[in-house]
Amino acid sequence: LRYLGDQGHVEIIDQTRLPGSLHWHALKSLDDFCEAITAMRVRGAPLIGITAAYGLALELRRDAGETARRSAMAQLQATRPTAVNLRWAMDRMEQRLSLVAEDIAAEVALAEAHQIAAQDIEICRSIGDHGLELLQQLAGKTTAPLQIMTHCNAGWLAALRWGTALAPVYRAAEQGLDIHVWVSETRPRNQGASLTAWELGQAGIAHTIIVDNAAGHLMQCGKVDACIVGSDRTLASGDVCNKIGTYLKALAARANDVPFYAAVPTSSIDWDNTNADTVPIEHRSATEVLQMYGTGENGEPGRVALAPEFSQAANPAFDVTPAELVTAIITERGIVTPDQLGQLKRPRD
Ligand code: MRU
Repeated sequence: LRYLGDQGHVEIIDQTRLPGSLHWHALKSLDDFCEAITAMRVRGAPLIGITAAYGLALELRRDAGETARRSAMAQLQATRPTAVNLRWAMDRMEQRLSLVAEDIAAEVALAEAHQIAAQDIEICRSIGDHGLELLQQLAGKTTAPLQIMTHCNAGWLAALRWGTALAPVYRAAEQGLDIHVWVSETRPRNQGASLTAWELGQAGIAHTIIVDNAAGHLMQCGKVDACIVGSDRTLASGDVCNKIGTYLKALAARANDVPFYAAVPTSSIDWDNTNADTVPIEHRSATEVLQMYGTGENGEPGRVALAPEFSQAANPAFDVTPAELVTAIITERGIVTPDQLGQLKRPRD
């Protein structure tokens, strides 16, 4: 995401067009922001929070009145239900804006959005530093390369820089650690195959794409030293909500003694919630399951049908991995076991 000061709008990398093309997509109106988040042109918990903050700031230039502000916040927050970062970003903007006069609200909101963005880079960098220590320890116990498995995309495309789950991997590669990443394709939107693989390739990091169903087999064969995933909402109880399929990986990891880590900025923690049943799981369109989206032989993006036209499909987009399956949570404030997570809470949150 980049803010173009001279033009007064935001541009995002349209993630629906990767890996085929790197296309910057302009966001100028509140509708543009909402559409981009809903259609997953921008995605990943930290990035949608940051994008929403900018969306609000730009909308306040049009109308900075309280009614307009609250309506814009509600629209942005409703774009995707599961990642708690959207609510976190809107709460933070509201806290700041409720104290300022209308005529400077847009300016203050933009400054706050810039601050959220700058802090995200620091937070992810810090997750990377803590995770790096962990990877160095793991590397000391195994033969090279260190084999990491991840799911979905929790790299820099899902944040601004570094990412969350991939931040330790990037830091480890910088330090010259011999590392290889198993990238699960992440049906149905294939964020692993199309985004994580692309990111790792750009960084020159060894990786192999697998179908989601290969994960258990690889763990059973001793080919995975650790799993690291991101999170859209981690409960105060340590339960980790993340992309659908994360739970199955955690089960396979436990059955095969593979440590399972979640990399979680504190903006993704739902501090007041310990009840996994209340997590709003996004259910997306059946079309995402029934058709496959990709680049055709002619180089153009398109869809092909996978299933009979008469079949229905269910498409829950997230699942919750119970705390007992999570070895530890890597945050910007340090690495904690799931039961220690509540101790990280600070007044600011
Ligand atoms: O539906 P998505 O692609 O937005 O889901 C993203 C994930 O599940 C990521 O793992 C999560 O947001 C962590 S991002 C750093």
